[in-house]
Amino acid sequence: MDAPIGIFDSGYGGLTVFKSIKERLPQYDYLYLGDNARTPYGTRSFETVYEYTLEAVKYLFDQGCHLVILACNTASAKALRTIQQNDLERIAPGKRVLGVIRPTTELLGKLSKTKNVGVFGTNGTVKSNSYLIELEKFYPELKVFQEACPMWVPLVENGEIDNAGTEYFIKQHVDNIFSKCPDIDSLLLACTHYPMLASVIEKYLPAGVTLLSQGPIVAESLEDYLSRHPEIESNCSKSGSERFLTSDSTDSFNSIGSLFLERPLNSEHIKIPH
Ligand code: DGL
Repeated sequence: MDAPIGIFDSGYGGLTVFKSIKERLPQYDYLYLGDNARTPYGTRSFETVYEYTLEAVKYLFDQGCHLVILACNTASAKALRTIQQNDLERIAPGKRVLGVIRPTTELLGKLSKTKNVGVFGTNGTVKSNSYLIELEKFYPELKVFQEACPMWVPLVENGEIDNAGTEYFIKQHVDNIFSKCPDIDSLLLACTHYPMLASVIEKYLPAGVTLLSQGPIVAESLEDYLSRHPEIESNCSKSGSERFLTSDSTDSFNSIGSLFLERPLNSEHIKIPH
């Protein structure tokens, strides 16, 4: 039976990716799941992120989804490969899980002229070295500088987008990454929450530096994936609907989520089975 495309994030961040996907591919149905009860993932261990992500993926498969996008860098970095290689065949043969890292590294490598790129991410994403490993495979000539920005997710989640306190933490990490290498010409926001801070981050960047958000890149890559995989595409239902599920309070999800999506939304509460 055909079913919506599942989109998963630890909380609200994946909504920045969902927004771009929906703009590019409005014909499909989507089921968004935010694990707000257990967010943040960025500070958690490999084992915990893997366990939580697998539970969420299973839940979305149980709702009928044939394809699940991990719209979360931390989950993509720490859980995607193991789920693809060890779990998928056993729990849901024929179903697919995709992440956000591969499509963004492809573009980041192509874009840089100085061959020095920067990656802003959560502690978990940076420590996993997933971006280093993935970029090394395709662009061995590239130098990658990473910077963990642990305050950025809580600032975004608390709606603290444009004020002096937020600017302090943004300037701090921008200065840090350019002190590692002044020649960085392309910077990736490798956390799906960070696009909410993009306009403030841009204020502190040297002229000529490109700041990349993942939403449009992932949306384009999904379109390409669906065109190359008719066996998956034909199982994705197409009535242009959307549903938002959260493992925590729907009131909070509706109010904070609408900031991410830039329009009102109505969420439903669910419990992710262990
Ligand atoms: N949105 C998640 C990511 O892209 C991070 C949020 C969290 O720490 O849970 O990495």
